[in-house]
Amino acid sequence: MAINTKETMLLARQHETVIPAFNVPHLPMLKPIVQAIVDENSVAMIEVARVEWEKFCSQSLEAVAGEYRKYADTKHTMLHLDHVPVVDEDYKAVDYLPIIDRAIKAGFGSVMVDASRLSFEENAAATKKAADKAHAAGIPCEAELGAVMGHESGQMMPYEEIFATKAGFTDLEEAKLFVEKSGCDWLSVAVGNIHGAIADATRDQKKPTARLDVDHIAALYKATGIPLVLHGGSGIDPEYIRAGIKAGITKINVGTEVRQAYEAAMRESGDDIEAGRKAVYGAVRQLISETLRIAGTRTLLFGE
Ligand code: 13P
Repeated sequence: MAINTKETMLLARQHETVIPAFNVPHLPMLKPIVQAIVDENSVAMIEVARVEWEKFCSQSLEAVAGEYRKYADTKHTMLHLDHVPVVDEDYKAVDYLPIIDRAIKAGFGSVMVDASRLSFEENAAATKKAADKAHAAGIPCEAELGAVMGHESGQMMPYEEIFATKAGFTDLEEAKLFVEKSGCDWLSVAVGNIHGAIADATRDQKKPTARLDVDHIAALYKATGIPLVLHGGSGIDPEYIRAGIKAGITKINVGTEVRQAYEAAMRESGDDIEAGRKAVYGAVRQLISETLRIAGTRTLLFGE
């Protein structure tokens, strides 16, 4: 039977494990991601963010949903809409609610609204509108509070400075209030994680190795009581990731690492899609089995 997204996230929390969510910036990546998830007997999400059809090659959320219908194994995979920004990485306002409507129509099992570039009150109000829509359709809604940096064009603060000063970290009191006001089901938090760059000039660069404030994750989980989401999952020290999962992280988004593996293989092979797919398959299997050490979550969560 197909797995239910909301229930799977709650089960994952109970078992102190994590559901990885793999981004699809290029449509051919979807098939080997699914295959790797199935071959590790694991449970994971396939996700696409607006920026990936605007600035990369995933075309549209409908195109990703179409590819998902072709290749998904719904005993192991779920389809999630990542970052629908209310104000985007170029600081332009986005008509975000129609995008949520389109995702619901296309069969996405959960959505994320990202109003984290707005004030606390504006973020809570915009998130509530999206969460109300999602809930009316029977699906969960993720939101973001705090500043997970890296997607904006222009110079980012040096990583060590972010970690030392806790710049943009999700505030505890605000997090509690935000969840009450917005009605979001899962919360993306800023706890030392940063996104991989997406600007043309920097998207091929290796990410700095990030660390996490694990005590802060535990405090945020205690304050909110809902599954926490770790964005910027590429290039974080694995010891910190595993400690973060125990402390409350229940979903981890991974984009850059797998995208760069695909793009490098495509460059080296002269655009041979099968070579690109092979690189994606290897990268995802390694992430599941070695970095996250969560092979077999299908059996852990569902006993089969
Ligand atoms: P990375 O690209 O840094 O792995 O982050 C992915 C992400 O958080 C997508 O929402």
